[in-house]
Amino acid sequence: MEEQKKWWRNAVVYQIYPRSFQDSNGDGIGDIQGIIDRLDYLKKLGIDAIWLSPVCRSPQDDNGYDISDYQDIDPMFGNMNDMERLIAEAKKCNIRIMIDLVLNHSSDEHRWFQEAKKGKDNPYHDYYVWRDGEEGVLPNDMGSVFGGPAWEWVPELKQYYFHQFSVKQPDLNWENPKLRKEIYDMILWWMEKGAGGFRLDVIDQIAKEPDQKITNNGPRLHEFIRELSKETFQKGDLITVGEAWGADTERAKLYSNPDGSEFSMVFQFEHMMLDQEAGKEKWDFCPLPFVKLKQNLAKWQTALFECGWNSLFWNNHDLPRIVSRWGNDKEYRVESAKMLATVLHGMQGTPYIYQGEELGMTNVRFESIDQYQDIEIRNMYKERLQKGYSEAEIMESIYTKGRDNARTPMQWDDSVNAGFTTGIPWMEVNPNYTEINAEKALENENSVFYYYQKLIQLRKEYDIFAEGDFRLLLEEDENIFAYVREYQGKQMLVVANFTENTVPCTLLKEWQDGEVLICNYSEDGEEGMLRPYESAIYLCGF
Ligand code: NOJ
Repeated sequence: MEEQKKWWRNAVVYQIYPRSFQDSNGDGIGDIQGIIDRLDYLKKLGIDAIWLSPVCRSPQDDNGYDISDYQDIDPMFGNMNDMERLIAEAKKCNIRIMIDLVLNHSSDEHRWFQEAKKGKDNPYHDYYVWRDGEEGVLPNDMGSVFGGPAWEWVPELKQYYFHQFSVKQPDLNWENPKLRKEIYDMILWWMEKGAGGFRLDVIDQIAKEPDQKITNNGPRLHEFIRELSKETFQKGDLITVGEAWGADTERAKLYSNPDGSEFSMVFQFEHMMLDQEAGKEKWDFCPLPFVKLKQNLAKWQTALFECGWNSLFWNNHDLPRIVSRWGNDKEYRVESAKMLATVLHGMQGTPYIYQGEELGMTNVRFESIDQYQDIEIRNMYKERLQKGYSEAEIMESIYTKGRDNARTPMQWDDSVNAGFTTGIPWMEVNPNYTEINAEKALENENSVFYYYQKLIQLRKEYDIFAEGDFRLLLEEDENIFAYVREYQGKQMLVVANFTENTVPCTLLKEWQDGEVLICNYSEDGEEGMLRPYESAIYLCGF
C-alpha cells in the first residue's frame, strides 16, 4: 500500500535569523514585529513555512542558542503576545512557524542549571552532565566546539559540568527521564500555541557519553528521538527537521523514516564540508572538489529515495553565503546565484532558503575583528593568534567561512542601514546594500528573487520535483552539473555550468525539443554551449 504522500514533500522553508531580519523599534536588533511587517514579502516569495531561529529568553551568548526559558520570549525580540500574533498572521498567509528547539543544552542562566548548581542532591542536579574531580584535573581532554575544554569547574560542588558548546551552554542529561518529560511538556505547550513545526538543534548530540568521548550518534540516540517524537510531534500534523552534522545515509533513513517514528526530514551537512581540508577544522579551507560535490549530492538523492527525506540547502545562519562560496559574487553574481538555486531546487527533498539568499546576498569583509560578533569567530581569532597564525591568515578564514557572513542585517532597500533599522544595527550592514536589496529586486523581473519565486512555483506545479527519481549525468565532467529526474512517464533535465567560462554541453542537443521550465539567461545562446553559470530545467514527456 502506498504511503499517503505527506504535504511537506512539496513545501519550501524560509529561515529567519530574527536579530538580523527586520527591526521595528529602532533598537538595532531585529524583532518579531519586524517579521510580521515583512510577511507580505514572504507570501510573495511563495514559501510554506518559516524556520525561526531562537527567540526564547536567552542571555544571547550564542545569539539565542543558549536558552534560559523555553516558554518565554526574549524582550529584545518582543513578548509572547507578539509571538502569538506572528503565528496567527503567518497562518493567514498559509505560512507555518517552525520553532527552533535547542535541546542538547540550555543556558547556564536557565532555572534548571541555577538549581542544579545548588547541590548534588538538588532534584535538578541530574538534569546536567557532571563529573567529580579536582580543580585543574579535567575528567578528560575533550574540547568544546567554540574552543577551550568541554569541562567547566564548579568549586562549590567540586565537580565539572560538560558543555559541548560555550561555557554558558551546559549540556542537558537526556538519560534523566524527568528532564525528558519536562521537555515534552514544553513542546506540547508550543504545539498548543500553534507552532507549525520544529527544527531540532544539534539533535545528534543529545545522547552523549563523555566518558567514552562520544558526542554525536550516542548509543541511545534514536531511542531518545523516537520517544520524543511519540510523546510530542506525532500528536500533531507538523513539519519537523533534525539537524545532524554526523549523519550518514543509513542514519538519515532512521531520522526521516517514512513511518513517522522520528522526524519529517534530516538536515545533514556532508556536502557543505567538502571544501574543508580532511581531518582539519572548518577554517582550513580548500577549493571545492566539484566532482565530489556531484557524487555526494547524487549519493544522498539515491540513498534516501522512497525510504527517507532530505533537506536541500546551501545556506543557513552557520554557513557563509553560497554565492560567494561556490558562485561568483562579482561579475556573475546574479547568474551564479540563480544557477546554484536551480541545482538545489531541482532535487528531491525540502528546499530551505536562508534570508537574503533569494536576493543573492554575499559574504562580507570587515576590516577589523572588532566588527565581528560571533562567539565562534572571536574565540577562534584569539586561539589562532596564540598558535602563531598571522592576522591576515585568520581574517581570510573569517572572510571565507565565518558565520557572521550570514548574519549581517537583511538588505531591504538602499536607505540608511539598508532599511533594517532606524537605530544602530547590532552588526554592521554589508556595504553592498545599495546595490543588493529587496526593493531593487522586486522592481526587476529578472532578479534573483523572482527566479526563486518561479522555482517554488514549479515545485508546486510539477510533482516530478518532489517525487521523481534521480540519475546523475556527465559524472566526471569538471564544469557541468547535470541530472535527470523521472516520474510517471515524464523526464526532467537539470543542467548547470558551474564555471565562468562558456562550455560545450552535448545534452543540450538531445533535449532541444524539451520544454524549458526555467533558465537564468533570457536570450538564446550559441547552440550546444552553456554560457557562464548558465542553468536550465527542461521537461519532456515520452
Ligand atoms: C547549531 C546552531 O545552528 C548554531 O548556531 C549553534 O551555535 C549550535 N548549534 C549550538 O546550539
